Amino acid sequence: MVAKLNIRVIGMGVAGLVVASATLISSNEPGIGTFDLQHPEVSLTQFGDAKRSDQTGADAKFVGRKVCRECHETNFDLHANHGHASTFHQVSQTDLPEIFADTKFDGGANHGIYEYFADDQQALYVRLPAEFGQQAFPLQYALGSGQHAQTMLTLTTSADGQTEGIEHRVTCYHNERVGITPGHSKKIPSNALELFGDMQRGEPLQRCVDCHTTQGEVVDASVKGLVANVNCEKCHGPGSEHVRVARNTPTPPKYSVGREDWDGESEIQLCGDCHRLPKNLSEREVREYPDLLARFQPVGMLRSRCYLESNGQMRCTTCHNPHQTIQAVAKDQHIHACIQCHDNQNTEHVVCSVSTDSGCIGCHMPPLEMDEGLRFHDHWIRVREE
Ligand code: HEC
Ligand code: HEC
Ligand code: HEC
Ligand code: HEC
Ligand code: HEC
Ligand code: HEC
Ligand code: HEC
Repeated sequence: MVAKLNIRVIGMGVAGLVVASATLISSNEPGIGTFDLQHPEVSLTQFGDAKRSDQTGADAKFVGRKVCRECHETNFDLHANHGHASTFHQVSQTDLPEIFADTKFDGGANHGIYEYFADDQQALYVRLPAEFGQQAFPLQYALGSGQHAQTMLTLTTSADGQTEGIEHRVTCYHNERVGITPGHSKKIPSNALELFGDMQRGEPLQRCVDCHTTQGEVVDASVKGLVANVNCEKCHGPGSEHVRVARNTPTPPKYSVGREDWDGESEIQLCGDCHRLPKNLSEREVREYPDLLARFQPVGMLRSRCYLESNGQMRCTTCHNPHQTIQAVAKDQHIHACIQCHDNQNTEHVVCSVSTDSGCIGCHMPPLEMDEGLRFHDHWIRVREE
């Protein structure tokens, strides 16, 4: 099969990347090793029971996190160092151009050797000389804070006029290590553009932006109304009404997490909206719980006896301050959460026969290594088989 694509790359000054030939489509065999965990079927609209602040004044508007700082400085400062404050950037505003410029990366037999260069505006481009000579493909947005990884995404308009997102094959991992994007190592390009990365369009592309930003709509190969990163109002809802009232009274009515109808379930729904819930996975994935599911913390937590048998006492904030990055939390800090429920003084819950004061995480929710050395803690808290 030979495909001819004429791709317009918007706003990059590199119009007309014309691609003459494409490789045959070849799909991976289905099987446990090929779960597409990077992009499971997720629907943000399924999240109908979300209790963000939409009710507090139906016409509340987004005001931006800087306004929240006025009265909530502590949370503002904490949040600024959280991964949430750094999930979506223009590549030119990151250090990726410095890391990649004038380097080459061997994408393997299916892709060839990528060559990177930056211009004096700090815009980053990639070439595949063997296929396209000196034509350059721009790398536009960077997703992820870099604590784990940053993957680049470029929006283009495809031949049929639809916006297409290309998630680059190559990712920058912690400590500036460059490697294949998680889940991409076995990908075989089905057309020429896919030599640069995976193509996304429509809902999946919009979701990618939804999970990494506070606001933004993918239209015409750009993100309209972009408010980058997972900011205060992504979790608390638009704040204009709260701010207006708070400026007039020292005791404003509760508007989000303080509301009476806000409970542990609402919180798990909120975090699970992005960190994934069981409903976002296939029945088989949930049933078989392959180690890869450790990426999706709510899925694991929801099947833990700690959660199931504690009458809704366990939620994400039992262990995590939602504003403070885990990087700033001492490794042994979380055991205090375990000991809250499992200690000798507490007759309500069982106590460990191996250790009652240390090492809980390493034995009962250890970090599991995934693709390219990414590690996630298995939130299915349990006595693990050897
Ligand atoms: C709008 C989507 C979204 C929501 C809602 C969300 N997260 Fe996240 N979260 C992310 C993304 C994206 C990252 C990756 C950041 C990175 O690359 O480091 C992340 C990273 C994290 C991290 C690791 C980074 C760090 O600095 O500690 C923790 C812990 C975390 N989230 C907990 C939570 C909790 C708890 C909630 C609910 C109160 C929540 N998240 C709600 C999208 C979300
Ligand atoms: C359903 C919500 C959701 C969608 C859709 C989504 N992400 Fe994420 N992404 C997350 C969350 C949550 C994390 C944090 C994972 C963690 O640290 O546990 C994350 C983390 C990342 C990271 C940091 C590395 C890592 O694996 O932790 C990168 C890079 C990334 N996402 C890229 C993308 C790209 C590119 C797309 C779209 C093509 C995308 N994501 C779509 C929610 C999402
Ligand atoms: C990832 C979701 C998330 C983000 C982002 C977030 N919050 Fe929160 N916030 C929560 C949750 C969940 C609670 C409830 C915590 C609890 O029940 O212990 C909370 C509680 C609060 C509270 C009341 C309790 C307290 O800590 O004082 C304030 C005020 C607050 N957040 C302000 C902010 C501000 C300001 C920002 C931005 C700088 C922000 N939040 C960003 C999820 C978030
Ligand atoms: C003019 C001051 C002011 C501004 C600006 C402000 N708040 Fe508040 N906020 C308060 C006061 C006062 C309270 C009640 C006392 C408390 O809990 O700290 C409160 C409580 C909260 C709470 C906990 C109770 C609840 O309603 O859920 C959250 C969450 C919160 N604010 C989030 C925000 C966010 C997000 C912003 C930015 C969009 C913001 N606030 C801006 C003054 C302010
Ligand atoms: C019983 C305690 C506990 C609960 C409850 C909990 N976590 Fe965690 N979580 C941890 C520990 C411990 C780590 C590892 C922290 C570290 O690396 O220092 C962690 C790490 C994370 C990370 C970083 C990536 C990883 O997996 O290592 C994310 C994201 C996260 N948790 C999200 C959540 C979400 C979302 C919820 C609610 C569904 C949740 N956690 C509930 C203890 C908990
Ligand atoms: C909100 C209370 C609560 C917290 C916090 C909590 N647990 Fe539990 N956990 C329980 C309950 C309830 C059970 C069921 C047995 C019982 O009633 O004691 C349980 C059971 C367990 C079991 C046995 C699981 C099995 O499959 O047999 C282990 C192991 C465990 N918890 C470890 C931990 C560790 C480690 C932490 C901290 C990371 C933790 N728990 C935090 C409430 C909690
Ligand atoms: C060296 C590994 C190790 C460490 C460290 C450890 N555990 Fe355990 N834990 C185990 C094993 C193994 C079992 C199963 C013991 C058995 O079946 O007799 C267990 C059992 C449990 C149980 C279930 C007990 C029951 O009677 O069903 C709980 C709850 C628990 N651990 C909590 C904790 C907590 C909380 C910590 C930290 C204070 C901790 N564990 C530290 C290995 C460990």
